[in-house]
Amino acid sequence: MNNLKSTKTLSKSDSWRMFDDISPRYDFLNHLISFGMHLSFRDKMAEYLPLKQSLKLLDLATGTAEVLIRLFKKSPSVQSACGIDLSDKMMDIGRKKIASLGWQERITLHHGDAHQIPFNDRAFDAVTIAFGIRNMENPRHVLTEMLRVLDNGGRALILEFSLPRNSVVRNIYLFYLRYLVPLMGVLLTGHYYAYRYLNQTVETFPSGEAFYALMTDAGFKNIAAHPLLFGAACIYTGDKI
Ligand SMILES: C[S@@+](CC[C@H](N)C(=O)[O-])C[C@H]1O[C@@H](n2cnc3c(N)ncnc32)[C@H](O)[C@@H]1O
Repeated sequence: MNNLKSTKTLSKSDSWRMFDDISPRYDFLNHLISFGMHLSFRDKMAEYLPLKQSLKLLDLATGTAEVLIRLFKKSPSVQSACGIDLSDKMMDIGRKKIASLGWQERITLHHGDAHQIPFNDRAFDAVTIAFGIRNMENPRHVLTEMLRVLDNGGRALILEFSLPRNSVVRNIYLFYLRYLVPLMGVLLTGHYYAYRYLNQTVETFPSGEAFYALMTDAGFKNIAAHPLLFGAACIYTGDKI
């Protein structure tokens, strides 16, 4: 799929192909672009997991399984976990990381679309998605699927970029996203478009109140937003009651 290097527009339904292309450098670039802060964002998710023993966890758009690995390390209550993604190359890297930790029995990754989650109703206690929902063609539908596979009392946790409210911080952040991130992307992966896509999706995706409305519409209760790093990212949580 190297023709994506020169593609000017990419539909959200095809975004997984771009992740296939950049998969060998995804973790490294993530670390560099976020100055390592993506790790603390993911760790923070563990604090909002439901208070229950032997949690069954599902991670959508799991990519290289970074969320599952961090949640397993941080939260002893997680018993078993599955991840799904459309990019097999991202998951291949995730599977290698899982194998190197000897956790193949506890964490499994499967090919699957977040719009049609390949699991039964009420199969999980928590469903997570990190930096994935803004890549979805129909985020509201993904939210209804998350609700469907959650057991009663279960919780959805959505980690996503957002725009800081403070105008000075927001302008610095946008300059970084619009100009410096694509430059780093092209220098280190050869894929300019993949890293232009990042700021385009961050700037157009509904955050804050607008995302609350999507979650309410999908049927979640007790919705809350937990901003991170001056609002550059946010963990949204919602319960199934
Ligand atoms: C920015 S990456 C995030 C990966 C991972 N969650 C993380 O935090 O590093 C977005 C992921 O969404 C996946 N993706 C895109 N559309 C999808 C869909 N409809 N269903 C499942 N995964 C999808 C891509 O293949 C990619 O791995």
